Amino acid sequence: MSAQAPLRRINVPQIAARKGAEPIVALTASHVQFAQILDAHCDVLLVGDSLGMVTHGFDNTLPVSVELMIAHGAAVVRGTQRALVVVDMPFGSYEESPQVAFRNAARIMAETGASAVKLEGGARMAETIGFLTARGIPVMAHIGLTPQSSNTMGGFKTQGRNADSWPLHHADAAAVAEAGAFSVVLEGMVEPLAAEVTAACPIPTIGIGASRTCDGQILVMEDMLGLGDWAPKFVRKFADLRTEVDRAVGAYAEAVRDRSFPGEDEIYT
Ligand code: KIV
Repeated sequence: MSAQAPLRRINVPQIAARKGAEPIVALTASHVQFAQILDAHCDVLLVGDSLGMVTHGFDNTLPVSVELMIAHGAAVVRGTQRALVVVDMPFGSYEESPQVAFRNAARIMAETGASAVKLEGGARMAETIGFLTARGIPVMAHIGLTPQSSNTMGGFKTQGRNADSWPLHHADAAAVAEAGAFSVVLEGMVEPLAAEVTAACPIPTIGIGASRTCDGQILVMEDMLGLGDWAPKFVRKFADLRTEVDRAVGAYAEAVRDRSFPGEDEIYT
């Protein structure tokens, strides 16, 4: 028997209980080694389908498959002990019917070991959210700017610039909460709307480009670490890893070319 108490993973009710309390720290993750580092700092790690863009180079998230999400989700679960791991349901895996959504969500949960799934859509997805939660699958909802609908929305546009649309966003938040979602991502929302939705919504809101009024924040890890050649305007870069990786790889290439690598102590003798 181990003398050390096992680390307990943060669970869904604990995140739901953070409404109006200590802000929820969330980041996306898709890679085991980064997940190991993030685990000590984050309450929630989302295996987001943005990995299709930042890790696989697609123009948008639409080509991402259930199999790809499972491969990355399982890696993140293997790399973590503490954070709640949530896996995105990719485009086409849940919209058709609650039954199709259940089949794919159950597979994602079983094959990754994640604690919850996330899906995009407000009132239109309420029936599916209710169906999944009633059958043991916790759901994080995602409203506002929903990237999987970028074709119908006409691009990646900040939501709520026109106050006429606010009742729809309020209705979306109320519908997903009523259906049983344990938290909701608010993406790309003007601050006064995000503040109103957060105040009215009984479950924690987790903002991305939706102001500090939310109950928590999430960013795409590669964006906040400065790994990409582009990031949305609202992203604060907490590091410049692109420059650091470029410097390190440049130093390696130079050392190979001038035969200073490997050194005497860097070879099997
Ligand atoms: O896929 C993703 O990374 C997301 C976040 C933007 C919330 O859904």
